[in-house]
Amino acid sequence: MTTPLLRVGLAGLGTVGASVWRQLSSQKDLLRQRTGAEIRLDQVAVRRAERAREVGVPESLVVADWRKLTANPELDVVVELIGGTTEAFELIRLALQNGKHVITANKALLAERGAELFATAQKHQRQLLFEASVAGGIPIIRALRDGLVANRICSIHGIINGTCNYILTRMNEGGLEFKDALAEAKAKGYAEADDRLDVDGHDTAHKAAVLAALAYGFWVPPDQLYTEGLRAVEKQDIVYARKLGYGLKLLAIIKTDADGAVEVRVHPTLVPESHVLASVSGVFNAVLVRGDVVGDTLYYGRGAGGDPTASALLSDLAQIAEHFPLEQKCRNVGHEALHSRLKTMEEIVSRYYLRLLVVDRPGVLADVARVLASRQIGISSVIQPEAHAGETTPLVLMLHDAPEAQFQAAVREIATIGAVKAPPVHLRVEDI
Ligand code: HSE
Repeated sequence: MTTPLLRVGLAGLGTVGASVWRQLSSQKDLLRQRTGAEIRLDQVAVRRAERAREVGVPESLVVADWRKLTANPELDVVVELIGGTTEAFELIRLALQNGKHVITANKALLAERGAELFATAQKHQRQLLFEASVAGGIPIIRALRDGLVANRICSIHGIINGTCNYILTRMNEGGLEFKDALAEAKAKGYAEADDRLDVDGHDTAHKAAVLAALAYGFWVPPDQLYTEGLRAVEKQDIVYARKLGYGLKLLAIIKTDADGAVEVRVHPTLVPESHVLASVSGVFNAVLVRGDVVGDTLYYGRGAGGDPTASALLSDLAQIAEHFPLEQKCRNVGHEALHSRLKTMEEIVSRYYLRLLVVDRPGVLADVARVLASRQIGISSVIQPEAHAGETTPLVLMLHDAPEAQFQAAVREIATIGAVKAPPVHLRVEDI
């Protein structure tokens, strides 16, 4: 029997594209043994021919325009690595319409227009695979789709942006302020020159939207996904949190309650230091998934970089190759709508860390406690560094569970107390 041949077009030859090129050649035999098919890169679209030479892609395979790939009737699969949300959308749509399977790492595009793209894939009965879109080399997509297919997903907690995790690690272990940790992350090549996507939480939110779509079968509208990044995080809060037994992580939190309403949010979060997620440091990613049958499962690894991401992209190619040329039933995302009511941020319930700057005089703690008590918010612990009477001092409170709306109303009222001298700072706490 002849070995089936899967013909692949690659659009984009950045760090990840170059790794795909290299690893596809070095893992060729292994992939053939395991899938029973040969996976061959037949065409590479890259704007600068010089880049193709740098990477070692033969000139005969190179085209400047990705439209050559989507129009090439010989290709079975197109791998989209051009990024962005405009041309990449067109590329994927055209490739699917022209009967090709598509593999992408583009979480921003999936988060924004995943519903349309998966509907197109469904209509044309093609696969749209995206293992590399979340947590780089960690096979979290396949774990959710296949490994945990028999579970209702109770919750997902993810550290899914390596740049942010690096910054928080350096603030915690190296005692750096945010701006110095960010500068270090840039110097090491982790953070992009335009750091907004990472540091403001958007990249984490894109990935959270993809995970939520897998878990609950619908796409969260991007403007309804609560997203808070790291810019407001101060070193002193990391220090107080540690004293209280917590570590600070930028978490994607995705979960349902007993009524089946879904919450999806991204923000800096205190997690108990004893929890395994608190010890995930540097650029590493980790995702904790709780299923109703399996209980807790944890996935850890490199969330970015050429080779880890190529590992995920090659696994998508292998999935297509394994059954090739037989058509596989497409199980595309967003068609099952297991849950569809998204909670507003005001509805969520959380524990909170609250730091105030107060004048140290009799009755201040009582005034703060009275506001909290009037809204049924309990205090679970308090830190106040010793100060001289009449001076200002931080007052740090850990609070019990409260609805976000109640908590925010309490904070607004606390800010009006005369002895409170700066806008209150708060962080949410997850007990997981
Ligand atoms: N910039 C991302 C990170 C990797 O720092 O994790 C790409 O999603």
